[in-house]
Amino acid sequence: MILWGPGSIGSELLTAIIDHRDDLEIVGVKVYSDSKNGVDAGELVGRDPIGVAATNDDGALVALDADCVIYTPRNGDIDEVCRLLASGKNVATTVFGFYPPRLPDADHQRLEAACREGNTTFHASGINPGNLSGVLPLALSGMSRTIDKITLQERADMTLYDSTDISFGNMKFGAPCDVVNPDVDEYLRDMKSMFVEQIWLLGDALNADLDEVTVDIEAIPAQEDHQIFDRLLRAGTTAGQRWNMIGRRNGEPRVEIETLWTVGNEYPEHWPAPEHGWTLTIEGDPSMRVHFLTLASFTRNASIAEHAQAANIATGMQVLNAVPAVCDAPCGFATNATLPLIRSATGFAR
Ligand SMILES: NC(=O)c1ccc[n+]([C@@H]2O[C@H](COP(=O)([O-])OP(=O)(O)OC[C@H]3O[C@@H](n4cnc5c(N)ncnc54)[C@H](OP(=O)(O)O)[C@@H]3O)[C@@H](O)[C@H]2O)c1
Repeated sequence: MILWGPGSIGSELLTAIIDHRDDLEIVGVKVYSDSKNGVDAGELVGRDPIGVAATNDDGALVALDADCVIYTPRNGDIDEVCRLLASGKNVATTVFGFYPPRLPDADHQRLEAACREGNTTFHASGINPGNLSGVLPLALSGMSRTIDKITLQERADMTLYDSTDISFGNMKFGAPCDVVNPDVDEYLRDMKSMFVEQIWLLGDALNADLDEVTVDIEAIPAQEDHQIFDRLLRAGTTAGQRWNMIGRRNGEPRVEIETLWTVGNEYPEHWPAPEHGWTLTIEGDPSMRVHFLTLASFTRNASIAEHAQAANIATGMQVLNAVPAVCDAPCGFATNATLPLIRSATGFAR
């Protein structure tokens, strides 16, 4: 297996494989920063050397023989993923392509052609998009007689999210509020696409017969300055983002995903205020609600940093645990609606 991008999530994947997965062999690790280039992959994550030097040499990695690439860079590159798929490596990612049938035609067709060329499978998942917006609602729907509406709310304060290149650089916290616009920013366009894809995935899987997905975004300015790791979020710049995305049939809301994100923990009074974490509501017969939270532990004293990392672990494990099923799946796209239920490969075993 090759790991592409050992950042916050990818590092957790590396330690999980080294510590718990004797059945998986890491043969390559792609890094971007000069400081990590040439460093042994085990040492990168505080483990003994494993004899694999991390590299920024894409060609050398593509030439390796590997069943699967776990692809977790900050920014996805569809050309890169197509190259990996066409070279005969399955790709499992946290980054993009959560429901390829609803990607723009050109992207969809390129990915499909690369899978055909390499006889490979592409899969994207994580926590959200991923388990909570795909696997969990589909699992709960097994108890439904009829469904009127599915709503997933994600309330997160990202003050402790140490990937500030993502929260500030990509997501535009700390930027002027009018910059939070997927029509003018490529990363935000992709972020919009991934949630919209999740809505189509649920709609298509549950016969919602959606005819459109509407997207409303509200960016909220900070009342005061906040120091967030290496970044200063200045008063007046973006400290809150509410993305409301609704799949509709004849104008009627059927599937809704709403994010309520802050950095600096200033929470706007006019926003809905579910508990922190994720709240999934299925209105129907019967109506059901689940509130989901990740922590490092509910019993032992864990540091704030450990708690903050818990969602990253969940994101990575959903993809790592899916790898055998992705490798076994037919050539093409494997989604959370087509793969079998993904379980922990390690479970109670240490
Ligand atoms: N599906 C979900 O539920 C979910 C949840 C959270 C995040 N995500 C996504 O998962 C991905 C990884 O998140 P993360 O928190 O681990 O990110 P991160 O900590 O910022 O690091 C990701 C990696 O990006 C690499 N990188 C540096 N410059 C880059 C560039 N110009 N282009 C591409 N990659 C570059 C870094 O390289 P070095 O190793 O050399 O530093 C690092 O390995 C992101 O795309 C994020 O949006 C998905």
